[in-house]
Amino acid sequence: MSQIPREIIDEIIHRSDIEQVIGSYVTLKRAGSNLNGLCPFHNEKTPSFTVFPATKSFYCFGCGAGGDAITFVMRTENLDYRAALEVLAQRAGISIPTDDTGAEEGVPRKRLYEMNLEAAKFFRNCLFDEQYGKEALAYLHEHRKLSMATIKHFGLGYSPNNWWMLTNYMKGKGYTDDELATGFLCGKSRESGRPYDYFRNRVIFPIIDTSGNIVAFGGRVMDDSKPKYLNTSDTPAFKKSRHLFALNFAKKHCEEQMLLCEGYMDVIALHAAGFENAVATLGTAITPEQARIFAKYTKKVVICYDADNAGQNAAQKAMRLLSEVGVEVRVLKLSGAKDPDEYIKKFGVEAFRRVLGESKSGFDYNLEKIANTYDLSLPEEKIKASADVCAIISGAYAEVEREIYIKRAAERLEISDEALRRDVERARRARARDAKQKESREAQLSVKNIGDRVNPDAAKYIRATSAEEALLGLMLIYDEFRRAAADGTVPISADDFVTDFSRRVFVALCELERSEAGYSKAMLGQMFDIDEMGRIEKIEIDRRRLARNDREVFLACIDGIKQEKAKLCERADDDPFADLRRKQEELKNKKKDKNT
Ligand code: GTP
Ligand code: MN
Repeated sequence: MSQIPREIIDEIIHRSDIEQVIGSYVTLKRAGSNLNGLCPFHNEKTPSFTVFPATKSFYCFGCGAGGDAITFVMRTENLDYRAALEVLAQRAGISIPTDDTGAEEGVPRKRLYEMNLEAAKFFRNCLFDEQYGKEALAYLHEHRKLSMATIKHFGLGYSPNNWWMLTNYMKGKGYTDDELATGFLCGKSRESGRPYDYFRNRVIFPIIDTSGNIVAFGGRVMDDSKPKYLNTSDTPAFKKSRHLFALNFAKKHCEEQMLLCEGYMDVIALHAAGFENAVATLGTAITPEQARIFAKYTKKVVICYDADNAGQNAAQKAMRLLSEVGVEVRVLKLSGAKDPDEYIKKFGVEAFRRVLGESKSGFDYNLEKIANTYDLSLPEEKIKASADVCAIISGAYAEVEREIYIKRAAERLEISDEALRRDVERARRARARDAKQKESREAQLSVKNIGDRVNPDAAKYIRATSAEEALLGLMLIYDEFRRAAADGTVPISADDFVTDFSRRVFVALCELERSEAGYSKAMLGQMFDIDEMGRIEKIEIDRRRLARNDREVFLACIDGIKQEKAKLCERADDDPFADLRRKQEELKNKKKDKNT
């Protein structure tokens, strides 16, 4: 990775107010000298995510995510270290000197963006090419009724029916086989290893992020062949679960509400009809990450899924995920057409605007569904309906909201308000109990998982790990201990460590300490990945919580590590077959003696 000058990194960290950086993604509440909020990295209902302004760091006691502002941006925006640093630099008004000399590992994000832009130009040129693009342009313009302006606005294109056209074109522009394969523009032939175009004979939909980078493509066949769509798989610059199609346009029109569709074509048709707040997930059901994106941009989402069963079931899931992040949800019900695209074509824009206005709140939608499922003239069916409704209402967070639902449901099911209210309160208590149990169970599991992944040796060497982490904690907090370890005034070295992860942290701390510019915690982010950063944060926090942090404790930790290491070496000598082997050796030697 090309090196960013150390002073710049320190300056960026120094000038980034971690409270503000994190506060722009997470609602934080002050708790003493720290701040708490709901963790953006796992689902929780009680806050275990903590920001420590004093140390400019954060840590989630639920899932183990942690680190500094750089780690936070890396995690939330799915960026590498350098790109996250650039985001923070921009916020803080600092410019990072560019340096293109260093070769990065893998294909850098920027390179993939440039490559995709070049490919998008190629696809667009093909679409408008007399020879190659005629059929595709007719498909989009005449068959799908997209205006030329819309086709251009979305940067649509066409990948010709050829195995090497894009590959050859891109290679001519200086892109290597590996880069093309990493960016999913090419596949590689299993026999010859030769690259070939991934998209062939498809109309192409570029997927653009909110900064205007082309991050991926979707490609649709123009007939009934399968698969109908091909999408770029995840690359180092793209994760499907974290993008929404057309958010680059919609983000300017979404304060009041957004429309969530199933398909690219629905979104394009809606934008063309003036609903520029429409977006779609990329060929998958909505993910929790995408729900959080909605929460960031808008207050209300209208789910405009297909009218079929699959669409309506997917709507249930979307409703749940979106309500969980505090977004008001409505569901559109289309009849007479299978999706928004078809509806607008058939009945016109005004008709669509009308049904959009009639879209039901998530609650009404479900109430209606329940009321139609049961025969309300039968008492036992009515009880079941009431139980179903109760389960939904008890999930609503605000009392005013619950009150509204109770009134409406009581009326619709013809039962008394009071009875329903009592049932709701009972269900709420049960729910709270379950949630608490589930949360602590999940939190424990996820902490364990992260711990195991980061330091796989920890479970096996529990005592050694705890001595190592105590020592590292002291080194992270106090300059004096770090210096003593780095310059060898205390008897500890990398070889003394039992677990590999602890050893790496120790080496990194000593190396930074000995470097010309001296130690800076901000530099750790360049040496460890985000999960490892979380673990390092935890090591420091655990240590800070303890009162005694003097030299005696430090030396005791060193002793502890050495003892554990010694035990381990002994165990290695403890070979159950050692006796047998020794006897065999003796026999052999005796034979040799006889022979000579
Ligand atoms: P049209 O049929 O052109 O109107 O497209 P649509 O967007 O209405 O498609 P549909 O409702 O069938 O599917 C919704 C979305 O699911 C599409 O926009 C794609 O993102 C995705 N999708 C559909 N079919 C496939 C497929 O075969 N493979 C993949 N990966 N995704 C698909
Ligand atoms: Mn469609």
